[in-house]
Amino acid sequence: MHARIRKILAPGFTPRALRGQEPILHRYVNLLVERLRECVSKEPQGKGAQIDVAPWFNFTTFDIFGDLGFGESFDCLQHSRYHPWIALLFNSVKAASFVAAARFYPLVEFILMKCIPPSLRKMQRDHYQQIVDKVHRRFNFELERPDIMSHVITANEEGDLPIGVINTTFMVLTTAGSETTATVLCGALNYLVNHQDKLHALGQEIRQRFRTEDEINLDTLRNLPYLNAVIMEALRLCPPILWMLPRRVPSGGDTTAVSIQSYTMNRDPSYFHCAASFIPERWLPEASVNSKSAFFKDKREAVQAFSLGPRSCMGQHLAWAEMRLILTKLLWTFDFAAVEEKRLKWEALRTFLFRRESSGI
Ligand code: HEM
Repeated sequence: MHARIRKILAPGFTPRALRGQEPILHRYVNLLVERLRECVSKEPQGKGAQIDVAPWFNFTTFDIFGDLGFGESFDCLQHSRYHPWIALLFNSVKAASFVAAARFYPLVEFILMKCIPPSLRKMQRDHYQQIVDKVHRRFNFELERPDIMSHVITANEEGDLPIGVINTTFMVLTTAGSETTATVLCGALNYLVNHQDKLHALGQEIRQRFRTEDEINLDTLRNLPYLNAVIMEALRLCPPILWMLPRRVPSGGDTTAVSIQSYTMNRDPSYFHCAASFIPERWLPEASVNSKSAFFKDKREAVQAFSLGPRSCMGQHLAWAEMRLILTKLLWTFDFAAVEEKRLKWEALRTFLFRRESSGI
């Protein structure tokens, strides 16, 4: 079943599909810039605005996924606040991580499940129902759209994918395709504002490359070395999926490779020079060819934030496109700095499935 779903979803995630989806990405990233500009313009001239960017990154990535998945945005950027579906998701991840942990102890799980009040169960059903309704509305669109769902609709018409599977797949995808990208963006910007020299280097690269905002597109963004290096370093230090990816052992047992937590491996000093430090330069082409570089021996291939193999991330082209576009348009438009009393250490964040606390940028 997994291989079948993956095959049906695949055409919606190719580089060619991404080209068709690019105008949708620009629409939301431009709206993000516009909204932040409004925040800045409310402050006295030249003073700048104090903004917690973490929600804004989530607004943007959830709105983009809403459009690409269901043909309707979550309208977070429109209203400058979380859609209730996302707010409920974020408010329940801590409890969800306890439920997930309880699964290892059947008796604890049994008792915990008995304790869940009916109102909470109803809330959970309503949460799921909202996705079912979104899928239903998208299925009734008359317009052809170059989105992820279009291929799924064809498969459903041909009887290849039952509607229940589509609903649950898109329920998971909504989070997998949004919170992940937003978290890496938060990590990248947080490290940048705490390393003004790196922020300056990236700003210079972007502002020298583009004279007008119209020149910024997925093609022109692909080969900006420092931008790519910053994103790779953020994927290394701030991988959004921090736990070991679970796999079910088939009945009768099997031999399997041992899973490893990317957060731990990516910070292993035996793999990376100055492993705990944010140094995008380790990803610049010369670091891997110049034997005098301090990063020459870095095990760059150890960083696999999107995983590998038959279950690797299908949305990695899309994620890269969003990260490049969002970072570039923001740094092209604004000057960023950390708010002194709200400086945040990424390592100090607590994790309950997601990185939870928001950054004070
Ligand atoms: C920086 C952002 C992202 C990261 C780091 C990331 C990472 C991952 C990882 C590690 C997996 C493997 C999960 C497992 O094996 O259990 C995965 C799976 C997946 N991701 Fe992403 N992801 C990101 C963004 C996205 C986006 C934007 C989308 C699409 C909208 C997406 C769609 C998927 C899908 C469909 C799978 C399931 C693949 C399968 O099971 O065959 N991801 N992702």
